[in-house]
Amino acid sequence: MRIEPLTQAHERGGFRCGVPSFDKYFRAQAGRDVAKNLAAIFAGVLPEGKIVGYYALSSATVLLPDLLGGPQRLVSRYPALTAARLTRLAVDRRHRGQGYAAVLLADALNRLRASPVRPMAVIAEIPNEAARYFLEHAGFQSFIDQPNRAFRMLQAAQNREAA
Ligand SMILES: CC(C)(COP(=O)(O)OP(=O)(O)OC[C@H]1O[C@@H](n2cnc3c(N)ncnc32)[C@H](O)[C@@H]1OP(=O)(O)O)[C@@H](O)C(=O)NCCC(=O)NCCS
Repeated sequence: MRIEPLTQAHERGGFRCGVPSFDKYFRAQAGRDVAKNLAAIFAGVLPEGKIVGYYALSSATVLLPDLLGGPQRLVSRYPALTAARLTRLAVDRRHRGQGYAAVLLADALNRLRASPVRPMAVIAEIPNEAARYFLEHAGFQSFIDQPNRAFRMLQAAQNREAA
């Protein structure tokens, strides 16, 4: 699978991940969001051109107390963090369980880490229990009081050298 920015040349009509809102978004809206620079969308494509999965990223801010809760609420000097939103990540039903989602997620995290304005956290919605399992497995944890949203910090160990 190669992973590349979504363009009008990609054939999106046959993609089915099983979550209707994700499928509808990909077929009907993703192209417009890319054109208007509202989201960065990447497609996982097989050699013959078939799309097996996609992910969409947008920028966001997140309140630190929402992530951590408790005493940090009092001590944080930086209550709002820059974050990225993994608005969608999906794999076509016919290609599930072959590691494609894990590869797509790793690609998304690598792109974010490589950004000069690297976000500090990645946020994702949890639409169902399969997604919860997948995200937890990948190191995400639920927000303190929003069980259907998850986040993962994006620290880069190599930056400690610059401190
Ligand atoms: C969630 C989703 C992306 C997983 O796709 P996938 O291609 O089957 O996932 P992978 O094969 O890459 O699996 C990655 C890991 O998650 C685990 N996993 C994925 N789906 C799982 C499920 N339903 N139940 C248990 N484990 C699951 C796999 O066992 C694997 O673990 P491993 O690395 O130890 O083998 C896919 O089910 C999907 O597209 N769902 C609909 C869209 C959706 O809900 N997206 C939200 C995700 S943020």
